[in-house]
Amino acid sequence: MKSPIVFQDLEKELQPVTKYLQGRVLNAGCGQRDLSSFFIKNGATVVDNCDLTTPIPNAIICDLVDVPKESGTYDAILCNAVLEHVQFPDRVVAELRRLVKPGGYLVLCIPFLQPYHPKPDYRRYTKEGMLELARIHDLEPVEILPVHTIAQTLTWIYWSYLEERRARLTRLALWGPLYLWNRLSQKTDFDTQIQANGFQMVVRKAAHPSNGNGHSNGNGHHAGNGVTQ
Ligand SMILES: C[S@@+](CC[C@H](N)C(=O)[O-])C[C@H]1O[C@@H](n2cnc3c(N)ncnc32)[C@H](O)[C@@H]1O
Repeated sequence: MKSPIVFQDLEKELQPVTKYLQGRVLNAGCGQRDLSSFFIKNGATVVDNCDLTTPIPNAIICDLVDVPKESGTYDAILCNAVLEHVQFPDRVVAELRRLVKPGGYLVLCIPFLQPYHPKPDYRRYTKEGMLELARIHDLEPVEILPVHTIAQTLTWIYWSYLEERRARLTRLALWGPLYLWNRLSQKTDFDTQIQANGFQMVVRKAAHPSNGNGHSNGNGHHAGNGVTQ
């Protein structure tokens, strides 16, 4: 049975963070969807796509722990719905930090309240967990925004539970109301922080590296915390 969950388009979901995805942009873990023309329309000048495997033409095929590009190649990097699937998230974030220019941005989108969805699926992050990820890698938090709505979060979790329990009759009975609820809830509710489906965290690499060599050493720190709470 088809799921009753309706997600807004990824383009709509990314709208609040497109202002950071300017200049030369890397879509790290791009998957199947080529968002290049969307990024260009919103201010990017060049877009590279990168994944272990993707049908997108001219994409860089590689593991995100080791991307064959010079340090500081990009003004901004998007990594959407990828870090829960990688075995070594710290190595990936360190690599993305290396690839972005000083003063550039990383937009890291990671699930919080989502069911297990194997590809494989290793982890979830709370808002504090994401801030800790930024701190460890000496990245300055700029914004953390929730994504999706409580309708999508609860429907996804409950539908996955009904599938696991093989509750076909309950699914048949609830499909219509859940679908309607999702259709009516297509705009991220920015006030839902504690029950967020996931978070988009924007972090900035300092214009002047604080540890002198420009590399994340696992003990990074930054002054202040300008994140929108
Ligand atoms: C859930 S998909 C998200 C795709 C895309 N970012 C989006 O939002 O539609 C996760 C993607 O991460 C890629 N991925 C997982 N581990 C990776 C790794 N170590 N290096 C590169 N890509 C990886 C997968 O191949 C997959 O395309």
